[in-house]
Amino acid sequence: MALWSGRFSKDPDQLVLEYDACIGVGERMAEQDIRGSLAHARMLGEQGIIPKADAEAIVKGLEGILEDVRAGKVSWSVDAEDIHMNVETLLTERIGEAGKRLHTGRSRNDQVALDNHMITMDQCRKTVSLLKELIALLLDTAKQHVNTPMPGYTHLQHAQPVTLAHHLMAYVQMFLRDAKRFAFTFEMADEMPLGSGALAATTYPLDRERVADLLGFSCITENSLDGVSSRDYFLDYIYAASCCMMHLSRFCEELVLWNSSEFRFVEMDDAFATGSSIMPQKKNPDIAELMRGKTGRVYGDLMALLTVMKGLPLSYNKDMQEDKERFWDAADTLNQSLAVFAAMFATLTFRTDVMHKSSLDGFANATDCADYLVRHGVAFRDAHRIVGELVAYCLDTGKSLDQLTLEEYLRFDPAFGDDIYGAISLETCVGARNVPGGPAPEAVEAAIASAEKKLAAL
Ligand code: ARG
Repeated sequence: MALWSGRFSKDPDQLVLEYDACIGVGERMAEQDIRGSLAHARMLGEQGIIPKADAEAIVKGLEGILEDVRAGKVSWSVDAEDIHMNVETLLTERIGEAGKRLHTGRSRNDQVALDNHMITMDQCRKTVSLLKELIALLLDTAKQHVNTPMPGYTHLQHAQPVTLAHHLMAYVQMFLRDAKRFAFTFEMADEMPLGSGALAATTYPLDRERVADLLGFSCITENSLDGVSSRDYFLDYIYAASCCMMHLSRFCEELVLWNSSEFRFVEMDDAFATGSSIMPQKKNPDIAELMRGKTGRVYGDLMALLTVMKGLPLSYNKDMQEDKERFWDAADTLNQSLAVFAAMFATLTFRTDVMHKSSLDGFANATDCADYLVRHGVAFRDAHRIVGELVAYCLDTGKSLDQLTLEEYLRFDPAFGDDIYGAISLETCVGARNVPGGPAPEAVEAAIASAEKKLAAL
């Protein structure tokens, strides 16, 4: 019989039980639910709202249940609908009458809000720690490649040369921002909602601050309607997850490209690739592709929950029970992706010789050639046109800029001298871009040092 059966003349239909129950996903917050109840019961006893002896019995009973949950010894039932009523039913079965006092001054609406806040904070911690591992790995790799040239692209066309370290450090910046977004989400969730009751708080003299203290929250929510109505913290998490997946996905896309026989910049380890059932020669970067695909799924979680929430009047509505599956789907997908990506990245082979050779192709030094003319007194707009003509000449004659003779250069502009070759060498092109944030080895070393500091502060 349901805990709320008093005003009903019938039990719920079996179809309703199955449709309405959320114990499947709810059991993932059993730990938080019980910790929340432990704090609530302690406070009820301290405030004299329930007899001290009952509070003690409840605490003992809940501690026993928590132990059994951790040991995997508890099985939950669909009949008790959700995790909250499952725990309460089990408690009363175990300790008798005192168990019936646990729900004093509390509603499932503020109870589920509390659990949600707690799982969000837990998952933020977990995600940040996975991000930290990935960032540390990227930094280690970047350090080894501050002098490894690779072509930089715009429109997927050779643009200007950079280094592998500089490219990797771009992702480090993205993942550092992601970590910040999860720290922000943690802050958003770090408000204790218990005491909001069903919607209009309670008439009992609850000590809400005490419950917040016991559970390690830094403050309490300040409006009972908002306390039970908000799912912003879930949305913040799923948005941060979407953004982080987008970064992983772009990285995966680059790995897929770089791993192709056209690029050959990297080779995936056999343990992180798969074969074809028909084409014996194939080694496919499926894992990177799958991660790209899973990104769409996390965006879907965000859209789904935003849509669930958009038309709801205050305060609690049952629609909101749909929140947890979206949250967990996003958190699980992201956390698993971060771990898999790090493992895949750690086993990559970088073909630095191919990157180096490719950096010399595609006139990636054309801007530097124009800058050379500017340094010799030519206006940039003229220099741009002259080098454009030089490139067209090279394309006609099948040469690269560094293969032209000085005599050929002089046909295009008298300002050229034989120092042009040094000015457009790969080393110069990269090394001269020595402003903070630029690809020159010195600038990248400074960026690595700065990122290390930020990582240590996370
Ligand atoms: N199982 C519900 C949920 O996850 C808990 C709150 C239920 N409250 C209610 N009034 N039915 O959202």
